[in-house]
Amino acid sequence: MFKEGLLKGKRILVTGGGTGLGKEIAARYLELGAELWIAGRRGAVLDSTAKELFSKYKGKVNTHAVDIRDAAAVDAMVQRIWDEAGPLTGLVNNAAGNFISPTKDLTANGFNAIANIVFHGTFYVTQAVGKRWIAGKHKGSVVSILVTWVHTGSPYVVPSAMSKAGLHVMTKSLAVEWGRFGIRLNAIAPGPFPTEGATKRLRPGSGGFEDTTHMNPMRRVGRMEELQNLATFLMADGCEWLTGETIAIDGGGYLATGSGGYFLQLDKMSDADWEKARAMIKAQNDKDRAGRTA
Ligand code: HXC
Repeated sequence: MFKEGLLKGKRILVTGGGTGLGKEIAARYLELGAELWIAGRRGAVLDSTAKELFSKYKGKVNTHAVDIRDAAAVDAMVQRIWDEAGPLTGLVNNAAGNFISPTKDLTANGFNAIANIVFHGTFYVTQAVGKRWIAGKHKGSVVSILVTWVHTGSPYVVPSAMSKAGLHVMTKSLAVEWGRFGIRLNAIAPGPFPTEGATKRLRPGSGGFEDTTHMNPMRRVGRMEELQNLATFLMADGCEWLTGETIAIDGGGYLATGSGGYFLQLDKMSDADWEKARAMIKAQNDKDRAGRTA
């Protein structure tokens, strides 16, 4: 779809770039010639992703173990990139956290675990990069990975819906505030693109997101290359006047059902079902936490 070397000269940080959607986006950017920084909490996962991507596409993939909930650590990471390699040209806000839960059962810690990653952490990264672009008079492009429930809301994932909706508003607000500096901000609102992290936490014990395809006008889930292509289009040169937009890529899903429709069937879960789901999500969280170095 894109010509070889399209992103040559671009220098892009992808948060949450070790796994899932972030890894896929990083892979396509690297393939198209960009230099990459991938950040995440698990150093070994980042290193193994960097090795895998390098062996496939060559190029340059740098890693940073960081927890984006820590504003000082985020600022230090961005400063280090600037010091060691000069200014970035692009940022992909992809790092996120989420799990399904009846909202009445959430503890303050549970709410904060998600809001601190998605809402606060994404702001920290965007500001740390943006303020350096402004100070150095560099142009830049931010692409944030949101979700269609920024438009519709969604039951059972309320901390995520609230936080992502905040980032949707950040995208619009900063597009205006930073437009005069040549900085643009856009966002992608994907429907279901199944990944391990999302499937294990949002559809534990079920047939995965494929179970929801009957509700989608195109009767399928997303294909990773479709998301990679949109993320590339938004990062490439040639449409710099495009800013402040959140583009849904979901086969028309949210227009047809409201993206909350994907989780409405959770109304049927009993207390015992929720107990089981929580245990499965906890197993996944524990597995991930064991590998964290930041
Ligand atoms: C209720 C839960 C819970 C659950 C955790 N908590 N899981 N509460 N139900 N299933 C509560 C804990 O009890 C605890 O509160 C608090 O959350 C913090 O839990 P920790 O496990 O200690 O948190 P932490 O290790 O910081 O992990 C953060 C996380 C985790 C968000 C909980 O899931 C994570 O790191 N996720 C990153 C990857 C991810 O989520 N990927 C999916 C993104 S999908 P107490 O009070 O007990 O201390 C996505 C959109 C998909 O964003 C869109 C599809 C259409």
